[in-house]
Amino acid sequence: MAENTDPVRVMKQEVGKAAAAKVKSNSIVGLGTGSTTAYAIEYLGERLRTGEIENIVGIPTSFQAEVLAKKYGIPLTSLDAVDSIDIAIDGADEVDPSKNLIKGGGAAHTREKVVDTLANLFVVVVDSGKLVDKLGSTFLLPVEVIPMAVTPVMRRLEKLGGKPELRMGVKKAGPVVTDQGNLVIDVKFEQIDNPAELEKTINNIPGVLENGLFVGVADVVLVGEIKEGKPVVFEI
Ligand code: A5P
Repeated sequence: MAENTDPVRVMKQEVGKAAAAKVKSNSIVGLGTGSTTAYAIEYLGERLRTGEIENIVGIPTSFQAEVLAKKYGIPLTSLDAVDSIDIAIDGADEVDPSKNLIKGGGAAHTREKVVDTLANLFVVVVDSGKLVDKLGSTFLLPVEVIPMAVTPVMRRLEKLGGKPELRMGVKKAGPVVTDQGNLVIDVKFEQIDNPAELEKTINNIPGVLENGLFVGVADVVLVGEIKEGKPVVFEI
């Protein structure tokens, strides 16, 4: 494990470790996406390597998760080969008091929703800065859209009261392209009063593949915080 003294990174490592510790031998594990989950995948690999647990197979939610799983020696399978997922570990961009989430900061929310909703236990890993009273307070809502439908979908999102913008690449000219070859529209809503209704309404717009609202999906949220310079993890 790489030595790291940055408190935020150490906190993410601790949250990832706490999530990986929940995985039992003989499990099918949904492997989420993002910088926090990356540590969970790393620790899961370490537990396998040291023989602390055995017979684990992962189902990745993104190209990133697949690459990390291979790097840390976690065997992979696909949804065609399993009946159910025992546990999924994934990050989030916002978490409300009912454990509803906004996800998709890494443009992986479509596959994440497929995997996370199939898990018998869905464990979310976040830092305390992600906890909000109402979804949409700090983060834009990601919506994955097929490329030819971007303009009409943006107009429909405006009619719903949102301010949509096409997500652009960093160190890549042009828009972000998802693992499925689609585009992402990030939408600012003044407030999301009814996440369950908004999730369905947006997914009902032709051309939308999936949005980043995860309502009633999370079972456990592991939260990392820095207290007196030290990382602590608590569960909600
Ligand atoms: C990926 O699309 C997202 O849903 C991530 O799980 C989310 O953005 C959290 O990522 P971090 O742990 O890097 O903040």
